[in-house]
Amino acid sequence: FNAVDVIRTKRDGAVLSDGQIDWVIDAYTRGDVADEQMSALAMAVFLNGMTAAETARWTAAMVNSGERLDLHVDRPTVDKHSTGGVGDKITLPLAPLVAACGAAVPQLSGRGLGHTGGTLDKLESIPGWRAQLSTDEIQRQLSSVGAVVCAATTGLAPADRKLYALRDVTGTVESIPLIASSIMSKKIAEGASSLVLDVKAGSGAFMKSTSDARALAEALVSIGKEHGLGIAALITDMSVPLGAAVGNAVEVAESVAVLQGGGPADVVSLTVSLAREMLSLAGLSDVDPAEVLASGAAYETWCRMIAAQGGDPDAPLPKPKHVHVVSAPSSGVLTSLDAYAVGVAAWRLGAGRTRKEDPVQHAAGILCHAKPGDRVSAGDPVLELHTDTPELVEPALAVLTDAFEIGAAAPERKILLDTVR
Ligand code: URA
Repeated sequence: FNAVDVIRTKRDGAVLSDGQIDWVIDAYTRGDVADEQMSALAMAVFLNGMTAAETARWTAAMVNSGERLDLHVDRPTVDKHSTGGVGDKITLPLAPLVAACGAAVPQLSGRGLGHTGGTLDKLESIPGWRAQLSTDEIQRQLSSVGAVVCAATTGLAPADRKLYALRDVTGTVESIPLIASSIMSKKIAEGASSLVLDVKAGSGAFMKSTSDARALAEALVSIGKEHGLGIAALITDMSVPLGAAVGNAVEVAESVAVLQGGGPADVVSLTVSLAREMLSLAGLSDVDPAEVLASGAAYETWCRMIAAQGGDPDAPLPKPKHVHVVSAPSSGVLTSLDAYAVGVAAWRLGAGRTRKEDPVQHAAGILCHAKPGDRVSAGDPVLELHTDTPELVEPALAVLTDAFEIGAAAPERKILLDTVR
């Protein structure tokens, strides 16, 4: 095979052969296909797409570029992946809940980039908690606690690591076959036998429309099925932040509230819906996650999960040095609260990073004191901005000017928009 022929095939709109796909992914990982050649191929895929069969083969080639975890646990393994949103802390209550229901949850997670937060950044606000675990430690914790949330080991899907960085700087991120194969290669390499996807739709998500989110969900589910995974996708609303907390420590606090039987209704309901799907794929549909959550068993598993990774579940969480309140300019009902604006503002306050290597502020973020449908009086707090760096308040306020509206009545909000199986 030769790189120019592979590029020409896709440039001219033809279907790549299995041999071409296997060769090009392997040769690129080894450095035999140059970045400029892979960029041209990624752009050809961006413009001309790939069939479901090509996408499945492309995913398999990326899985084969590295190691595949072989999890030995005596309970069914099931994972969840979210395409990313604002205030999306669902992994935090969900992983211990599903473990408390009897499944094993290996959740290899990422860090935030841009306006969407990263699970590891959130958990690192817990004093002592460690994201980096060896494969042996993952294995042991899965057996003893049933849930592990940690950083993906570098040996998983190295082809994706390289290709994602290249796509990021060549305008080729927003392609459904490339996004779907990127996500699924990492999830398949992680070794869980089933997977539930939370595909977000709305201003705060990658996919702004429900129809784009559905197309991505269908591509993800199709790859999963080709690889023998039990898989389902929920398409859920991301036009409004999830819950009241957006940031790092504030999202941990909200997750703990959910695990202790409180917390915002939308976070509780999405956690329970995703848990139901995961338990059904794991063959445990007779267990009711709402009951297990109410019993306190999920909170107990959370404490063991955090402690197993060096964290102190009882330690106070970091507090911000500076708090700024945005109040309601008039009285009425909050009719909208834009997820994207709140996500960008939290990022600017220091909750997220601009460059991959930047640190995040654990105490930075936003508390939403009102959500669409809530009645407010003029002067009531709507948003509470947290940061350690007062100079960051101004840039955050600049993106919040049209973040919410006050009117007479809010439209009904549905969280679960669709399901793809
Ligand atoms: N997340 C990924 O892991 N890969 C993509 O291509 C996009 C989002």
